[in-house]
Amino acid sequence: MAVMAEQQTKAFSICSLHDRPELIDSCAQLLKITWPCSKPDRLHQLTAEEQSGPPCSLVLIEHGEDTPDTVIGHVRLVTVTHPKTPRGAYLEAVCISPSKHGLGLGRKMLLLAEEYAHETLGCEQMFLICAQSLVGFYERLSYQVYPVLTLETEGANLLSHVDQAATWYGNHPRKNWEWVYLEGPCISKDDLRQQTPSKVKMVKYFTTVK
Ligand SMILES: CC(C)(COP(=O)(O)OP(=O)(O)OC[C@H]1O[C@@H](n2cnc3c(N)ncnc32)[C@H](O)[C@@H]1OP(=O)(O)O)[C@@H](O)C(=O)NCCC(=O)NCCS
Repeated sequence: MAVMAEQQTKAFSICSLHDRPELIDSCAQLLKITWPCSKPDRLHQLTAEEQSGPPCSLVLIEHGEDTPDTVIGHVRLVTVTHPKTPRGAYLEAVCISPSKHGLGLGRKMLLLAEEYAHETLGCEQMFLICAQSLVGFYERLSYQVYPVLTLETEGANLLSHVDQAATWYGNHPRKNWEWVYLEGPCISKDDLRQQTPSKVKMVKYFTTVK
């Protein structure tokens, strides 16, 4: 899978990391730079298990004329188990290479990821949880605050540092990855409310179904 876009003279595409395993190391490096306490080394095992997802990691690739393809962005699509209909994906670990911030690439990557999720995977809605400071970024992309507390996912936060919240209420372990959640604290619904008061749930609907 590859969805292409052009920006001035540069070409960008988004693809599933599963399709480009040679890019796993540079993707892991980007995640480590962005979140030093994360566990992106797990990408090797995760990607070996994944197809085109969700769950899957998508990477934004910059194609140079005479230079090798470079990973400049990452977003992970996770299976949403509730609300069940219409089909949805949960977005996490959204990042753009720090030297490329503010160039419109985060926006471009999410639009390409949404196109892939909607047209290829048949998703009708995308969910995410973000810091209050990022609400404006997502609102520009037509996400809106999602007041319902019953979002449930399978296999979220597998790249997170286990000493932090390895999981959260409503996230269920993915098969064979239960050990990740057993090692880390499982946040209860009440703790989630108390410890992450500034986190905001957001949703984007592709159709008028709400
Ligand atoms: C968040 C992030 C992905 C944004 O990517 P980016 O390439 O820098 O953003 P863009 O240049 O595409 O910005 C698109 C638009 O959103 C705006 N924007 C960017 N960050 C914003 C913020 N924090 N709040 C409000 N608006 C923001 C831009 O000004 C731009 O507006 P415009 O369309 O009016 O020009 C990037 O800053 C990043 O990787 N941050 C570190 C990791 C992180 O915090 N990830 C989020 C996890 S939920």
